[in-house]
This record gives sequence, structure tokens and C-alpha cells, in this order.
Amino acid sequence: MTSRPDKENPATLAFLTQAVHAGNHVDHGSGAIRTPIVMANSYALPEDASSVNWSGTDIPLYTRNSGANQLGLQAKLAALEGGEDAVVLATGVAALHSVFFAYLNSGDHIVVADVTYEATWRLFTELLPQKYGVQATFVDASDLDAVRAAIRENTRLVHVEAIGNPTTKVTDIAAVAQITHEAGALLVVDSTFTPPPLYRPLQDGADLVVQSLTKYINGHGDAMGGAVVGSRELIRPLKTDAMVSVGGAISPFNAWLITRGSVTLPLRLARHMDSAQRIAEFLEADPRVAYVAYPGLSSHSGHQLAVQQFRGRGFGAMIAFAVDGDPETQNRFVSNLRLITSAVSLGHDESLIVHVGTDGARVVAYPDVFKEYGHLRFSVGLEDPDDLIADLDAALGATFSDE
Ligand SMILES: Cc1ncc(COP(=O)(O)O)c(C=O)c1O
Repeated sequence: MTSRPDKENPATLAFLTQAVHAGNHVDHGSGAIRTPIVMANSYALPEDASSVNWSGTDIPLYTRNSGANQLGLQAKLAALEGGEDAVVLATGVAALHSVFFAYLNSGDHIVVADVTYEATWRLFTELLPQKYGVQATFVDASDLDAVRAAIRENTRLVHVEAIGNPTTKVTDIAAVAQITHEAGALLVVDSTFTPPPLYRPLQDGADLVVQSLTKYINGHGDAMGGAVVGSRELIRPLKTDAMVSVGGAISPFNAWLITRGSVTLPLRLARHMDSAQRIAEFLEADPRVAYVAYPGLSSHSGHQLAVQQFRGRGFGAMIAFAVDGDPETQNRFVSNLRLITSAVSLGHDESLIVHVGTDGARVVAYPDVFKEYGHLRFSVGLEDPDDLIADLDAALGATFSDE
């Protein structure tokens, strides 16, 4: 018999119900049934303030340690990702940095997937090696032998993305977790392209999951935030060292916005993914399009793995593609779009497209066709997919009739 659903105990709730109730409490001061925005820097201390741990993060004390809105969002994200605890920070990059800051020391080594978010790439090609002597090896994380071969005696972390930004390469998280744990290291998975309920990497052996809350979890393109989810023990230093002592705390207002946005996460994600599948199929069938990478297409090298790893729940809603032409043609195509917005970020309600260029060291990891053409990273939004397809079709027509 399943246990009776109780909104004070998220473990008893199905995902849709968790998305509505987890982390929310009646506010006893006002009687409001939704946690209000608490824009206060400080909270009342107990009578004997000398007993307070100033680096503590479990009771509201000072907003850099914790506050009502952070605590609610942390509890909710822990439930949604299936972890014991979570820390929320000002941005996704602050969340990534909190892990590296807390778990890497000078002289340590990390294995990083070669297809990874730009700021992660820069942290490990420039900032952390130069400033702190952290060594990094970039590998094709879809090649398990390469991951195994990259591990060294001083490897502390392996960092991958379940679907890699920007080329949508898929990594086998359970297999990489096994290799990582055999080496006594921790596996960190940036799951921003694959938010729950699509995927919960902790179930497949990840130790820490990073989310840019700026993307699907908030979903409305109006607030930045980041989170790391994992066991209580692994999250503790992220709070005390990275949040309290380095200070990347999220504002209560943004924590509240993200908590509100996340209520509709499962509904939005289903819509995003249905539309992305249709649009990827449209693009792949069009001779004016040179190449489409979307894990939901059987032509994608990670398709079978994605079916199995994401348990048939979908393939995300990020498409990488190139129209048939040089980088200048990609620009012309983007400028011919009338509905889809050319802007960075992803997972917003509106569709966003970015022309990722052909310059820079990172493109070594891209498929050959993307190295030559450049490519477009397309975050499929919540508009009617027929409107999106009509916009793509019209922009393709305008681009190739200009020639
Ligand atoms: C995969 C991934 N991780 C992390 C981040 C960083 O998140 P934020 O922009 O909230 O700092 C991004 C941003 O695009 C991302 O795509």
C-alpha cells in the first residue's frame, strides 16, 4: 500500500504534487498559505545569542546564511531531485563554483567533459589552474575508456553534463559514476539541460547535481539562481564554505520567483519537449538544414543511451543545428527570424536562439560539420509549435532566396 500523501512530507508525494507543495509552509505570522517574500537581511536571535553558530545555515539568521525563501526553495529542490539536501545560490555559475571551491585543493585534478558550459570550460582552462594550481583533463565523456584513462591518482572530481551544452552530447551517468567511484572521486553532474522529472542523476550514482535555476526550473526568464543537490554531508561545506564565507547567496526575491516558477516545471517541460521533438524532425527533413543534433532523433549518436537513461521520459528541449552555409549564412538566418529571439540563455517561456561561432579552443569537441558551419543553439519555448515551425520555415526561405 502506498503511504498517504502528506504535503509536510514531500517523500510521500508524486512529482506533480511535490512541484506544487514541497518547501511551502503556511506563514504563521500572516496566515498566508504561500510563503511570502521575506526581504530582511537579519532574523531575531535567541535570548542567548552567544550560543549561535555564525556559520550555521539551518535556522534563519542572516540572509547570507539562510532565510525563509532560501530554506523553502532548498527543501523543494532536494525533493524534486531526490536528494537529502540542497544549497541555493545567486546563479548557476555560483553553484558550479561552490562545488569546485569546496572540493578542490591546490594540486588536485579534475576530469571534465569536453562539451560543457562555457564558464565551466573557462574555470578549468584558465582561472582555477592559473590561480590555484588545480589540474584539469578534458575528455570526451561519451567515451568511457577515455574517462577511465584520464583519471589520475590525485583526481578528486569528475564533472559532466547529462546532455552537454551546446552540442547535446549525451553522457552515460551510471557508467561514469562507476568509474569515478572506483577511483575514490566524486561525480558532479550539471543537469541544467535535463531537469527533473526528465532526469534525476542522483538515482544513477551522481554525488552532486548542479542546476542553473535561471533556466527550466524558474522557466520565466526573470530571475537568476543556482542549486546543488546531494547528501546532507556533501552539501554542508557548500553552505558553510561557499555560501557563508564566499557569499554567493541568492536574493529572497529571486528565491521566491524561482519557487513560484517551479510549480509548473513538469507541465512546462512536457510542452517544451513535445515541441522540440516536432521541430527537430521538421529541421532534419529540410534540405536547407545541414545538420541537426537532438537526442530525440534516431540519427543522434546518443539516442539509444538517452532512451534508456531518461527512462522514456523525453530528451530535453535543446536543439543544436546548422543551416546549409557558412557562419555568415547562420547569421542571416537568425536575422530573418521574426518570432524566435536571438539571445543567450535557455529554458525560458520564449524560444531563444544563439549562433555559437567557430572560434575558440572549445570547438575541438564539436562535430566536424559544426566546426565548419558554426551552429545554432535553439531553446524551444512554450509558443505554439506550428508558429515556431512557420517562423523557421519563413526564415529559411528568406535566407536562401537572398543568395
Ligand atoms: C549547462 C549550464 N550550466 C550552468 C549555467 C550557468 O547558469 P547561470 O547563467 O545561472 O549562472 C548555464 C548557463 O547557461 C548552463 O547552460
